[in-house]
Amino acid sequence: MQARFITVEGIEGVGKSTQMAFIQTWLETRGVRVETTREPGGTPLAEQIRDVLLAPRSENMPENAELLMMFAARAVHIQNRILPALAQSRWVLCDRFTDATYAYQGAGRGMDMAGIQLLEQQVQGDLRPHLTLLLDAPVELGLARAGKRGPADRFEQETVQFFERVRQGYLRLAKAEPARIKVVRAEGSISQVQDEITRVLEQAWETWHQGEAL
Ligand code: TMP
Repeated sequence: MQARFITVEGIEGVGKSTQMAFIQTWLETRGVRVETTREPGGTPLAEQIRDVLLAPRSENMPENAELLMMFAARAVHIQNRILPALAQSRWVLCDRFTDATYAYQGAGRGMDMAGIQLLEQQVQGDLRPHLTLLLDAPVELGLARAGKRGPADRFEQETVQFFERVRQGYLRLAKAEPARIKVVRAEGSISQVQDEITRVLEQAWETWHQGEAL
């Protein structure tokens, strides 16, 4: 089957890391070679940009600098890792991608969506995820879980209201693109969430097989 690009999204603390590992195993069990990666980051240079983006600092980080660095890291990641993997028939499973930019910089920070769209076009060309799993849970639950993970990074220091805007931004994206973005309710137990993810993966797998059999 043609290599696919799958992304996982959601606010902090919704269980993305645990479920990424589950999705990877699910795919590998079906004989797929999977490259697991994340944004911002995924290559040595892009991880350096990630460190700059996430480190709390006293100097103000202007919103447009944050946005441009997200896309700078993404450009490096796409050219040096995502496209080469797909070209070699390896599937790419990525923890966050451009939907996060629409949700965090767009909905969260209130930046102009059209400006983000221009950068998306410039940096990605036609590259878009084939499937996105949006893990959705109430903000209080996510932040309580994320708070147990050690010192807060620059984003984790944001307010509940910021994350509420991010969550709603994600849900609006899912409404606008229901064929690609599948909302998974993430407040239940790990195994309940995995059951929902399995249903989404089975359906996508079936659709991709049918598409290639035509
Ligand atoms: P995480 O991957 O460990 O959750 O941390 C990455 C942080 O970066 C997270 O708070 C979301 C944020 N982010 C953006 O604001 N915009 C983006 O485009 C991406 C990929 C991440």
